[in-house]
Amino acid sequence: MARLLGIDVGTSGCKAVLIDEFGVVLKQALAEYPFMTPQPGWTEQDPQEWVGGVKKVIEAIGELKPDAIGLTGQMHGSVFLGRDNEVIRPALLWNDQRTAKECQEINERVGSDEVKKITGNPPLTGFQAPKILWLRNHEPHHFEKLKKVLLPKDYVRFVLSGEFATEVSDASGVGLLDLSKRNWSQSMLDELKLPNQFFPTVSESYAVTSYTKGGFAGLVDGIPIVGGGGDQAAGAIGSGIIKAGPVSMSLGTSGVVFTALNSPAYDDEGRVHTFCHANGGWHAMGVMLSCGGAVEWLKKSLFSHITYKEFDGLAESVPAGSRGVLFQPYLAGERSPIIDPYARGSWLGLSLGSDQGVLIRSVIEGVCFGLKGSYDVLASLGARAEQIRVTGGGSKSNLWLQILADVFEVPVARLETSEGPSYGAALLAGVGAKVFDSVEAAAAGVKETEVIHPSGLDYRLPLQIFKETPYFRDYSRPKG
Ligand code: XUL
Repeated sequence: MARLLGIDVGTSGCKAVLIDEFGVVLKQALAEYPFMTPQPGWTEQDPQEWVGGVKKVIEAIGELKPDAIGLTGQMHGSVFLGRDNEVIRPALLWNDQRTAKECQEINERVGSDEVKKITGNPPLTGFQAPKILWLRNHEPHHFEKLKKVLLPKDYVRFVLSGEFATEVSDASGVGLLDLSKRNWSQSMLDELKLPNQFFPTVSESYAVTSYTKGGFAGLVDGIPIVGGGGDQAAGAIGSGIIKAGPVSMSLGTSGVVFTALNSPAYDDEGRVHTFCHANGGWHAMGVMLSCGGAVEWLKKSLFSHITYKEFDGLAESVPAGSRGVLFQPYLAGERSPIIDPYARGSWLGLSLGSDQGVLIRSVIEGVCFGLKGSYDVLASLGARAEQIRVTGGGSKSNLWLQILADVFEVPVARLETSEGPSYGAALLAGVGAKVFDSVEAAAAGVKETEVIHPSGLDYRLPLQIFKETPYFRDYSRPKG
């Protein structure tokens, strides 16, 4: 019987899942770790936290000779390694917003149309490329030592195997990948004066990149490690999103609306991202930075004394549209469908009657409206949601899924295996180990368990008002 191990190096913790050749989950483990916010808008993590987390989950799973390992994780982060492969400084994460100037620098040096044509996206503050320029501009003493830049899951690959490698889906989020050629863009590296040696070799997500070596966490030597995928691409494989048209949605800290594409079609305004998919094709996705993050912020700030069930219960008694209160969920700036690191969250339309239930319902509705905005852009690239497959922490809430079904006016489905990215990474490992013939075959067994249908509540007016209302921008932002 095959044993396939998927490891997800997330932002708040690391998750591992062991599956067999039927896609059945045999074991799973989770290890949490912190992240740092040294300044407002900055987020960092010590890569040793991931290494510690990965060690714990491998030990907890206890399978030291799986047939293959698939890696996935938070995208876009920058692990800066020096001459002796030492970590030079804490990694800058996907939601770090310090690089607005460096994004401008990329547009100026390469040309903004050219950047979009090559990478499918404008340079965005969360992406890895502007982080490298930030290091060069702000910490030249660190940049001088720089030998390699890795994405979070690829640093774990280095720890497991001693090799520098990445794969197309996560590499797309660096901002330097030529989407058509599925490799680094030489012209962009030249324009930005970044040496090729900084970057790991790129493979397809289902290809074997390296083999375990050195006995990390007791793993035997010689286990194949496949490319894996960025958390969103791997999560989509785990949700069975392979063909152009169907849509999945991940309701985690960030909220992602995702569809596969037949070609690297991109939105001219860059309101959603076009990346290589883990099945050899492409995908587009809208990424909302504070999705579950916004709901959790509210719960922690004002409702820490009640359970999530009570929290949802308060909102259930409030009518659709939250009695005219609107919440704009831009607590960490926003990426899709508005691109603005300085966007900030607001409640609008408050009255003396705005009780606890109104506050809760308006936050969940605001998040759903934002996700709908991303979907509308994806629809212009070919997405057709007849049904939406949802994963992530937020998918546990019936209230949230009902609001989603009503806002999108389509049924919303939970899946049998909601492990998301780690499950997708394990499926990709199975393709690398030839347990499955193709990514399509690996994902064919993904099943829906429960479908929530639209209830007929009409959200068209609040949705329109949400779209038309300007949002507040951080007035203390740097000038220029
Ligand atoms: C995707 C993105 C997030 C992170 C964290 O573009 O930024 O999904 O990967 O999960």
